[in-house]
Amino acid sequence: MRLMDPTPSLRFAILLILLGLTNAFPQKRDFGHCESVVKRWTSSAPSLEVKADNHALRDLLFFLHVPRTGGRTYFHCFLHKLYSGALECPRSYDKLNFDPSKRKCSLLVSHDDYSLVSKLPKDRTSVVTILRDPIDRVFSTYELSVELATEFLAYPNLTSATTTAGSLSSKTSTLDIWPWKYLVPWMKEDLFARRDARRRGSRDTYSSDPYNMEDIVIPLHKFIKDPISQDIIHNGATFQVAGLTNNSYFPESREVRHCVTQHKVLGQHVLEVAKRRLDNMLYVGLTEDHKKSATMFADVVGAQAISQLKGSSSGVETASTNESEQSSLSDSKSDDDQSQNVPPDVEVSAVGKDGASNKNMTEGELKESYESCVSSFSDAQSHRHISALKKISPVNFTKESRRQVPEAVLQEIKSLNNLDVELYEYAKEIFAQQNRRTTEKSTLTEKFGSMISSAYGTSQRSRLFVFLPVILLLISCILSVNARRRTSKVKI
Ligand SMILES: *[C@@H]1O[C@H](CO)[C@@H](O)[C@H](O)[C@H]1NC(C)=O
Ligand SMILES: *[C@@H]1O[C@H](CO)[C@@H](O)[C@H](O)[C@H]1NC(C)=O
Ligand SMILES: *[C@@H]1O[C@H](CO)[C@@H](O)[C@H](O)[C@H]1NC(C)=O
Ligand SMILES: *[C@@H]1O[C@H](CO)[C@@H](O)[C@H](O)[C@H]1NC(C)=O
Ligand SMILES: *[C@@H]1O[C@H](CO)[C@@H](O)[C@H](O)[C@H]1NC(C)=O
Repeated sequence: MRLMDPTPSLRFAILLILLGLTNAFPQKRDFGHCESVVKRWTSSAPSLEVKADNHALRDLLFFLHVPRTGGRTYFHCFLHKLYSGALECPRSYDKLNFDPSKRKCSLLVSHDDYSLVSKLPKDRTSVVTILRDPIDRVFSTYELSVELATEFLAYPNLTSATTTAGSLSSKTSTLDIWPWKYLVPWMKEDLFARRDARRRGSRDTYSSDPYNMEDIVIPLHKFIKDPISQDIIHNGATFQVAGLTNNSYFPESREVRHCVTQHKVLGQHVLEVAKRRLDNMLYVGLTEDHKKSATMFADVVGAQAISQLKGSSSGVETASTNESEQSSLSDSKSDDDQSQNVPPDVEVSAVGKDGASNKNMTEGELKESYESCVSSFSDAQSHRHISALKKISPVNFTKESRRQVPEAVLQEIKSLNNLDVELYEYAKEIFAQQNRRTTEKSTLTEKFGSMISSAYGTSQRSRLFVFLPVILLLISCILSVNARRRTSKVKI
């Protein structure tokens, strides 16, 4: 009888232990499994070869375009002017649609993530990108998803919007590319559901916060919690630079991304890969520091591209200059996020299709034409913005209204984008270094110039004194360049 007493509690204890074990083990195994998945990927992740000449523009420039960073402007107002016609690779805003080993081209602009590099000639490719403050990037992604989806509200119902909208010629291309090809249809369905509900029920007065007008558009605070945002938006810059987006070429990306979102600590491994990638890029710009970024872009990429293209203009144009190919290129619509509804006259007019004018463009001219290009470009964008918002009035996304968004929502965005927050800080450091490098270079040439001109005012003798070291320096430079050429030839 007495022995009976402890038994139930003992049983209970054993049950508890068993429960604890079965509960703890899968989770532990899961973490352990995930850790090895992530680490295996980290150690095998392809990276560009680290070379001393990382600052030299190589044969192929890959513009890794993170959505909503303003990359479109760079493409439109810089790159498009430098590399025209056959120099531009077929647009592959969705999946690579050409064979890089067969098709010779010099510029590839894409929302595809870094995994695309695995398809490109690694040691002949330079990568550039632009990063943006993560909170602004999320706001902007939300706003553009809504704005693009409002187009469909012209239709009486979702069925007719979905079946007939396929024929909207120029607008379809934005909707065909990642990430808009997922975000916009999703938002479209949501807009229609809310409109239908509004028509059935009575409408109350709206809140004054356009990011929280539940009757018309999914509120921002709900949008950021939706699984689609987790799949596509949060930590999007880190995933894109790492090559792990939902649109990746790496077969293991899905599992790695899944593990990283489940076990936050593992995100640090991915972040490290992304940082290393940024280190090896030819250029990293910041959306926020637009003017300085653009100037630096002209200094770092523009100047080299100009001299490279000048060099190639004498003699044979790259093998692929081919009438039919070229015309199909110019036909393919280049729309991405920001070019929606851009009137045709905004399409770069300064550049002839033949590409002849590009060869003559100087760095100064490039910067000059950039300014006017940017302003007409942003005019076109605000035009789209205004006409889209008319369809969902009183929702109106403005800079002022962003300030009404509660701090808690901003904090939540930050925490959902913890890796991007760190990557952005890192990008700022890289940007500062780049800035020092380019300004050092220009002050050095200035000093050099003033040294020579001051030498002219003095006697023959001292002039020789100044020039002798300069001449020696030049000779040694030429020798070392030659030597380097020879070693690189040997490598081949
Ligand atoms: C949707 O609109 C189309 C065109 O007006 C109409 O023919 C169709 O019956 C509508 N469908 C529904 C389910 O209301
Ligand atoms: C990417 O994310 C979207 C939206 O959540 C989803 O519909 C799609 O299936 C995903 N694609 C892959 C390859 O995971
Ligand atoms: C030009 O391109 C077309 C289509 O890609 C191809 O069929 C043709 O052979 C090419 N011509 C030359 C001269 O390369
Ligand atoms: C480019 O420069 C060359 C020689 O300097 C000149 O002959 C040609 O007309 C220029 N082309 C354009 C489009 O300015
Ligand atoms: C949105 O707000 C801006 C600035 O306050 C205003 O100029 C614009 O007319 C508004 N648009 C709509 C559709 O209400």
